[in-house]
Amino acid sequence: MCGIVGYIGEKNAQEIIVGGLRKLEYRGYDSAGVAVLTKDGLSYEKAKGRLAVLEERLEGNALIGNAGIGHTRWATHGKPSDENAHPHTDAKTKFAVVHNGIIENFLEIKEELIAKGYTFVSETDTEVIAHLLADTYNGDIVATAQKVVGRMRGAYALGIMTEHEPDKLVAVRLASPLIVGVGNGESFIGSDIPAMLEHTRDVYILNEGEMAVLTREGVELFDAQSGEKIEREIFHVDWDLVQAEKGGFDSFMLKEIHDQPQAVRETMGARIHPETKKVVMPELKMSEAELKAIDHIYIVACGTSMHAGLVAKDVIEKLVRVPVEVAIASEFRYRDPIYTPNTLVIVISQSGETADTLAALREAKKSGVKVLAVTNVVGSSVAREADEVVFTWAGPEIAVASTKAYTCQVVALYLFALYYAQVKGTQTDAQIAEITEHMLQLPGKIADILKHTEEIRVFAEGIKDVQSLFFIGRGLDYAVTLEGSLKLKEISYIHSEAYAAGELKHGTLALIEDNVPVIALATQPDIFEKMVSNIVEVKARGAHVLGIALEGNTELAKSVDQVITIPETLPILAPVLTVIPLQMLSYYASLARGNDVDKPRNLAKSVTVE
Ligand code: M6R
Repeated sequence: MCGIVGYIGEKNAQEIIVGGLRKLEYRGYDSAGVAVLTKDGLSYEKAKGRLAVLEERLEGNALIGNAGIGHTRWATHGKPSDENAHPHTDAKTKFAVVHNGIIENFLEIKEELIAKGYTFVSETDTEVIAHLLADTYNGDIVATAQKVVGRMRGAYALGIMTEHEPDKLVAVRLASPLIVGVGNGESFIGSDIPAMLEHTRDVYILNEGEMAVLTREGVELFDAQSGEKIEREIFHVDWDLVQAEKGGFDSFMLKEIHDQPQAVRETMGARIHPETKKVVMPELKMSEAELKAIDHIYIVACGTSMHAGLVAKDVIEKLVRVPVEVAIASEFRYRDPIYTPNTLVIVISQSGETADTLAALREAKKSGVKVLAVTNVVGSSVAREADEVVFTWAGPEIAVASTKAYTCQVVALYLFALYYAQVKGTQTDAQIAEITEHMLQLPGKIADILKHTEEIRVFAEGIKDVQSLFFIGRGLDYAVTLEGSLKLKEISYIHSEAYAAGELKHGTLALIEDNVPVIALATQPDIFEKMVSNIVEVKARGAHVLGIALEGNTELAKSVDQVITIPETLPILAPVLTVIPLQMLSYYASLARGNDVDKPRNLAKSVTVE
């Protein structure tokens, strides 16, 4: 995820900013830059690659001054490059801006600015902000920033400075986190606390829609819309650096689980039209005619990404009525797949570097088949080599166990399925809008589930010494049980199996005996009764059953030992919610067994070998 640092004080700004960016390196980035108000005006340097590349460029060419902003970029709009790195400036280099998040309506603003004669040098959404600042400036950077922010839709955090008002920095937050620090004769901006921890422990954590004006004398907070002043007590940070990197959580996995409301929001971002609630996917280069002609889809991926593919299979088949086959990449690459002239291969990979997935992609391309990639990493091999890319925009995932990448993959694939259905006319506008409206509520519902995890923690404590447990479900629920079981195995090392509930009686039921824990997902109304019959089968053999159902379901409780409910949603969207308690279950079980949650034994984050 991108990192923001800002400084205004009496010290060497470049040194403090680059030092702060180094503390944010753990978030992942592909380019970096810094802008400082020097005696010759606003100057900047930026470079693709590690911070060391930027530092090399600054050697002998230092930016001397005591106010500035800096950034580490994790590409979303446009590849990693010097030009796309932040800060971005207006044409006369009077304004500089660093930005995290996504400006959803940047194309509209860009077109408007181009019509006025502005020229753009990068592919980013951020550059529009710099030009818009220049275009709007009226002698007051605070009022100007307020106006500019009023024009923008999306989720973002900004650091802004101008040569016209050298004694001020402006910070704005809408959805993406932003912190401002208060020192002695100096003030700081950071996208995260580690950026400033070395210099101050007194911070304000900006809330949604808040703006901070930083001077050497201190910090003032305002409502970015109304301009009304906000009084807030300073938050004194007593975390150490390692805790601060994890946002105060005790592991990256837990932090990433809690990142999900925001991550899912970003995945949906500009792709759901605010008025029509239709899906827009300007990133797709293929024509509507090409999309309509597709008659068969292979989804190819590994591990968690493959599980996201299983959800997508059901969703695409239901909404578009085109057959989808899900294949494990390590198998697919050595198969002799049967392609039709209009087959589409969808590869899913968080990292975009998984060797088996990449090999499968190359095999498909060699056969002349169109490949669409769903990936989280701009500039990754999968993103570069596929014909089409849908980015998940989940932000970097550091824990080996994939959590937010999965939910964002599922959401990105829903969006693709809906867009595809729109183009093919297999769903009406009203049906699409009903689903997207429910999708927009998912972030809030994930946040609700994360507020109530005590019951799942107690259940996890109870299973920490079991030999084995089972996850059962049907349809979309079955796809999620596979992910729940993988997560549990991966970080708690407890053996578990995910089973299609109706298949148990064909063999596996022999393993059910007294007190074997069974987690039963039952969110799909059309097969609910069948699911209950399968639950009764395991209960009759002594299993202890934890059921997971949608809120309002009073039936499941009659057949299981305990029930956890998740907020109501459309059954088709349930996977995004049911996976959350399962992630928390594996997290708590791993913790209870004293394992390293973030670095499970024998596993690597990115599997770049066959
Ligand atoms: O980067 P990818 O999505 O291609 O990785 C695929 C799998 O290695 C990955 O999903 C793995 O299963 C997860 N670490 C499990 O949590």
